[in-house]
Amino acid sequence: MIVTIDGPAGAGKSSIARVLAERLGFQFLDTGAMYRAVTLAALRQQLTEADADQVAQLAATLTITLSGPRIWLGSEEVTAEIRSQAVNKHVAIAASNPAVRSLMVDQQRAIGARGNTVTEGRDQGTVVFPQAECKIFLTASPLERARRRHAQLQERGDTTPLEEVLEQQSLRDHRDSTRAVGPLKQPPGSEVVVTDGLSPAEVVARLEAIVRRCQ
Ligand code: C5P
Repeated sequence: MIVTIDGPAGAGKSSIARVLAERLGFQFLDTGAMYRAVTLAALRQQLTEADADQVAQLAATLTITLSGPRIWLGSEEVTAEIRSQAVNKHVAIAASNPAVRSLMVDQQRAIGARGNTVTEGRDQGTVVFPQAECKIFLTASPLERARRRHAQLQERGDTTPLEEVLEQQSLRDHRDSTRAVGPLKQPPGSEVVVTDGLSPAEVVARLEAIVRRCQ
């Protein structure tokens, strides 16, 4: 069974989807982490969004390994580095590159084929797993999402002000929903869950109830 969870940045998808996967005994696929890993590798080679061919070539050479919340590029663990502000800011280097997306989609489908999966991203219910048995669209208001991201950054000692987080987020929202390939869209047939004012435990409980209805 495939459960897709799509939605904008900061809706709490990653943490919620991870806990949901644990509760269900499903594997968890964080597809944003894959785009982040490609971006990190590209930034290290000083590539920009304009270097689309080189970024695609680079992506094809990378071995990205996801294990629980940890992620590796080849033999190097990059779990923390892929969440840096530099990667947040430049993730379109990978996400807006059609050749990179096609590569990521193939890898995501291969992972999904291994067994029961909770997968989260922007295009999981629309492009990657349109046949998924259970599709969820998880969202929250822009300010609530920015506040959550801001709190996460502060926990990591990052002092970026809330206004800047909000600004970057709205830029990312715009790019995510207007790009030509794999844009963020509410998948047809998905259940919409708005998480404003809900605790993580309440959101997980709602999603679990939705999945049980799909089973
Ligand atoms: O979910 P997360 O914030 O980690 O995703 C990072 C970025 O990767 C998003 O802003 C989006 O641009 C991109 N992404 C994507 N398609 C996905 C998952 C993430 O384009 N399936």
